Amino acid sequence: MKERVLSGMRPTGALHLGHYHGALKNWVRLQSEMDCYYFVADWHALTTHYESREIIEKNVYEMVIDWLAAGLDPERCTIFLQSRIPEHAELFTLLAMGTPLGWLERVPTYKDQQEKLKDKDLSTYGFLGYPLLQAADILIYKAKYVPVGEDQSSHVELTREAARRFNHLYGKEIDFEEKLLETFQKLNPEQVKRFEKSRKKFQETGDLKSLEGAIGFVHNEPSLNSKDKERLEGYFKGTGSTILTEPQVLLTQASKLPGLDGAKMSKSYNNSIAIREDKASLEQKIRKMPTDPARVKRTDAGNPQKCPVWQFHQIYSDENTKAWVQKGCQNASIGCLECKQPIIEQILIEQAPMLERAEKFLTQPKLVREIVDAGTHKARQTAQETMKDVRQAMGLNY
Ligand code: TRP
Ligand code: SF4
Repeated sequence: MKERVLSGMRPTGALHLGHYHGALKNWVRLQSEMDCYYFVADWHALTTHYESREIIEKNVYEMVIDWLAAGLDPERCTIFLQSRIPEHAELFTLLAMGTPLGWLERVPTYKDQQEKLKDKDLSTYGFLGYPLLQAADILIYKAKYVPVGEDQSSHVELTREAARRFNHLYGKEIDFEEKLLETFQKLNPEQVKRFEKSRKKFQETGDLKSLEGAIGFVHNEPSLNSKDKERLEGYFKGTGSTILTEPQVLLTQASKLPGLDGAKMSKSYNNSIAIREDKASLEQKIRKMPTDPARVKRTDAGNPQKCPVWQFHQIYSDENTKAWVQKGCQNASIGCLECKQPIIEQILIEQAPMLERAEKFLTQPKLVREIVDAGTHKARQTAQETMKDVRQAMGLNY
C-alpha cells in the first residue's frame, strides 16, 4: 500500500512557470511514488474572492488543464473538485465545534493576508476558518503527507493539532475500559506488566524510546488484531484511538524562478509567464525583461548578479551558456537581447510537451470533465468512509 499524499491549489488564475517549478513538478514526481490526491480548492478561493466568483468559475477547468499539461496523469493520481465533495464541509463543521478561536487567530497567514490584500475585506468568518477547512481537506483522506510551500506549513501544523484534539475528545470507544481488558487478556501477564510500566514512564517523562518500544511490540504481536493494536496504541499515548491521522508537511522548495522583474513571480505583480503562454507573447515578455541598469548602452559592461535574466539562466542554461553570459556581460561582448535568446529557446523546449498534452484537452473539454468526475467519484468514496468513522466517534449515529 502506497502512502497517501494530498495537496490542493486555488483556482484564482492561469498557472505560471513559478507554480510549475515550485509545486507542479513536485506533484508530478510524487505521483509515481505515492497514492496522490490533488484537488481544486475552489471553496478556499472563495474565502478571498467571494465578490468575484466568475474568476473562479473560469479557472477551475483551466487549472486542471495546466495540471494535465504539466504531466499529472489521471491513471496515476486522483484529481478532484473540493466543492463537489460536501463531506469536506461536514468535517469542517464538526471540527469547528472543538477548535478554539485562538488557534485560528494565531495562524500567521491570517493577519499577513489581511494586511497584504487590503483591497479585500477579509474580516470574515470564512477567511478565519480557512486553515480549518484545509485541515478537513487533509484529514478526510487520512493523508500522510502534504506537499506545500513554507507559507502553508502553519496550516498543516493546525491540521495536526485538530487531529490530535479530535482523537483526544472522541477517540475513546464508549466501552473502552472493557475492550481494553479483553485486549489485555490476549497477552500474557508479563507482557502486560512491561507494557504498563513503559506506559507510565512515557506519560510521566515523555520518553520517546518507551513509546517506540511499545509501538514496535504492539505492531509485531501476532495475537492482536488491528482494533486491539489501535486501542493499545491510543491507551499508551493517552490519545484514544487514532480516527484522524496527523499528517506531515512535505516542504516544497520555493521556486528559484523569480518573476520577470526579479521579484516573486505572481500574476498580481504582472511579472509572470503562463505555463501555456503563447510563443509571441513569451518572446515579447523576455525581450522586455529589465536587465542590469548599468548597461545603458550596448558597450556598457554589466554584472549578471544585478540582473533578473541571470536568475533565469540559472534555471534554464547549461554551464557553457552560463559561462558565455558571465563573460559576455562583464566585457560587453554580448548584448542583452542576445543574452536572452537561449532562455526563450529553453522555455519553448520546456513548454513543447506541455502544449502538446494540453492540445487534446483544449479541443475536447469533455475529457477534462470526465477526468475530474472520475477523480471526484473516487475521492468521495474515501471521504465518505472517513465520515462514517467520524460520525460514529462523535456519537452521531442515531
Ligand atoms: N491553502 C492552499 C494554498 O493556498 C490550498 C489548499 C487548500 C491546500 N486545501 C489544501 C493545500 C489542503 C494542501 C492541502 O496553496
Ligand atoms: Fe543581464 Fe545578460 Fe544583459 Fe548581462 S548581458 S545585463 S546578464 S541580460
